[in-house]
Amino acid sequence: MNTRLPSSALKRITQLCVRRHERFYSVVKLRSDPVYAAVTKELLGAPLPVLDIGCGIGLLAFYLRESGFAPAIAGFDYDAEKISCAQSMAALSSCEGLSFMTGDARAGLPECSGHVVILDILQFFTRQEQEALLKAAASRVAQGGKLIIRTCLQNDSLRFRITVAGDWLAKLTFWMKDAPVCYPDRALFESVLGAAGLRVRVQPLWGGTPFNNHLVVAERE
Ligand SMILES: C[S@@+](CC[C@H](N)C(=O)[O-])C[C@H]1O[C@@H](n2cnc3c(N)ncnc32)[C@H](O)[C@@H]1O
Repeated sequence: MNTRLPSSALKRITQLCVRRHERFYSVVKLRSDPVYAAVTKELLGAPLPVLDIGCGIGLLAFYLRESGFAPAIAGFDYDAEKISCAQSMAALSSCEGLSFMTGDARAGLPECSGHVVILDILQFFTRQEQEALLKAAASRVAQGGKLIIRTCLQNDSLRFRITVAGDWLAKLTFWMKDAPVCYPDRALFESVLGAAGLRVRVQPLWGGTPFNNHLVVAERE
């Protein structure tokens, strides 16, 4: 299944951004990052609501809607400015069933039962916080639902070092509020999510990027 959106659909999303730096970010992200098409491929099969933890300006939600995914999508992020951008994009769009709220995932998650998505935020958590977040996220995955995580995995590759440099650049340019703290390894997902009753698979998700990104898909069968 090809879940890559045509440029006309990507343009509809980026034009929802009112501020120039947010529009520039969304153009670059949507054109270069394979994660939105990869997550969409995983979710299209099961029409369950989605909780997107660390949703940023909500690009995944808009990508899913452009792909014809109809269930409710709730985004959650501790950066109030990004949530405000996502809310104004939703208001400008004709999309229904999207909600975006401010909150820190270290202090707890909204209640839900469906799919859960966590893209690129685990590096901001300590190992203990990562374990707590994964347990809380797994408990929100419904029968037939998936917990989908995109993360850099810690290893001794050049890709890993480039990813760390990229995360520090995001912090130094004030795009991210926090600097990276701890990168997870594959064993974390297998132990925590396996114990929560989910079947786990891990695959590289490099696309054309130099980063050491992987997609973790944990399914409740
Ligand atoms: C690299 S961005 C990814 C944004 C979005 N997931 C995407 O892929 O388009 C990481 C996001 O995680 C959010 N974040 C980091 N720590 C968080 C926390 N403790 N609680 C909620 N959101 C957090 C940041 O504000 C940022 O929007």
